[in-house]
Parts: sequence; C-alpha cells; structure tokens
Amino acid sequence: MATTIFLFITFFAFLSTPLNNVFANLEGDALFALRRAVTDPGNVLQSWDPTLVDPCTWFHVTCDHDNRVTRLDLGNAKLSGKLVPELGKLERLQYLELYTNNFVGEIPKELGGLKSLVSLDLFHNNLTGPIPSSLSKLSNLKFLRVNNNNLTGRIPRELTKLGNLKILNVSNNNLCGTFPTSGVFSKFTEESFVNNPRIEGPELIGFVRYDSGIGCN
Ligand SMILES: *[C@@H]1O[C@H](CO)[C@@H](O)[C@H](O)[C@H]1NC(C)=O
Ligand SMILES: *[C@@H]1O[C@H](CO)[C@@H](O)[C@H](O)[C@H]1NC(C)=O
Ligand SMILES: *[C@@H]1O[C@H](CO)[C@@H](O)[C@H](O)[C@H]1NC(C)=O
Repeated sequence: MATTIFLFITFFAFLSTPLNNVFANLEGDALFALRRAVTDPGNVLQSWDPTLVDPCTWFHVTCDHDNRVTRLDLGNAKLSGKLVPELGKLERLQYLELYTNNFVGEIPKELGGLKSLVSLDLFHNNLTGPIPSSLSKLSNLKFLRVNNNNLTGRIPRELTKLGNLKILNVSNNNLCGTFPTSGVFSKFTEESFVNNPRIEGPELIGFVRYDSGIGCN
C-alpha cells in the first residue's frame, strides 16, 4: 500500500515538472561538461552548481524566459582545455563567446547543431584541426571569428551558404588552399584571411580549382 501511494506521488510530481526544467537540466549538464573539461585558475566557473534546477543563475550564462540558455560569455577568462561536443546541445544559444582563452584541440563538429547561433567567437585561443563544415548549418550566424588560433585545412566551401554572415575572420591560422569567393564570401576581402602562410589566394572560378592545393590538410 505504502509503495502504491509512493508511486502515485512520484508520478504526479513528474507530471507537474514543467517541460522547461527538463530542457534546462540537459543544458546545465552540457555546460557542466565544459566545466569538467577545462582548467579554471581564476575560478570564473565557481558558481556553476550542477545541483541547481537550471543553469540560469550561473555567472556568465544568460537564459531566455523559458530558462533556456541564450548566451555564454567566457571571453578573457583564463580557461584552458578542450571544447566539449555537449555544447552543441544548446539549441537556443545565440552568443558563444569563448575568445582570448587558451582552449586547445579541435572545434567540435557538434557546434553545427547550435541552430540559433548568431555569434561564434573563438578567436585568440590555441585551437587546432579544421574548421568543421558542419558550421554551414548555422543559418542565423552573423559573426564567425576564429582568427588567431592554429587551425589547419581548407576553408570549407559550404560556409558560402551562410547568407546572414556579416563578419568573417579566419586570419592568423595555418589554413591552406584557396579561399572561396562565391555566395556570401563575395563581400569579404583579404582582410578576413590575412596571415595564413599556406593560403594561395582567392579561388578563381574556372581557372584555379578549389581543390588544387597540393598537400593541403
Ligand atoms: C599551443 O599548443 C601547442 C601544443 O599544445 C604548444 O606547443 C604552444 O606553445 C601553444 N601556443 C600557445 C600560444 O599557447
Ligand atoms: C601550432 O601547432 C603546431 C603543431 O600542432 C605547433 O608545433 C605550433 O607550436 C603551434 N603554433 C602556435 C602558434 O601555437
Ligand atoms: C581579423 O583579425 C586580425 C587579427 O586581429 C585583424 O588584423 C584583421 O583586421 C581582422 N579582419 C577583419 C575582417 O576584421
């Protein structure tokens, strides 16, 4: 009998949990995965308590009225370590500001899942590997700044589909090949690509093939 009553209470407690909190916990877990992965000598993530119902009271995190995360502001925070794929679960994230830290490793391809993202600022870190072509799914993206890292490989041609892109900066990396000139890229100048010693120059449609670079990886 006691068990039956307990089950009933549990069941109704579950029913009365707003759906928002279910999402918010997923988002708190995703952010907490980042906290676990990084070294934080300035204790800027000290308020990130995973036992809270959502991450909306954590410092450097902003939420909307549904308690979903819209901003992560961790520029200049002395963080080091790897970016975690879990960040790609923040479906309503608009601003991912992780510039001027010492993040290493690759840009997770899962960031292509951030369908609300407006600004991806990863500049001034020590990221390696390619710019993921999955970022071409970020159809709301206006600012893509990954300059001053150690990124390699080609600039993914799929990024030319990002019709809302206003600012692109991939300068000061180790990218190679040519840079695309079609689609939204037609408005970007060499100022977006400077100091990638292995970049050959703009893609000349019908003259130099996009994939002509030898040993570009
Ligand atoms: C970047 O990382 C590499 C390898 O981990 C290291 O050798 C280098 O010193 C780092 N550069 C900066 C600017 O932190
Ligand atoms: C870039 O990465 C290479 C190897 O991964 C490393 O040797 C080099 O020091 C890095 N450059 C900078 C500026 O961190
Ligand atoms: C990209 O960043 C570099 C280094 O900070 C800067 O020199 C360059 O002007 C920037 N390009 C654009 C288009 O903002």
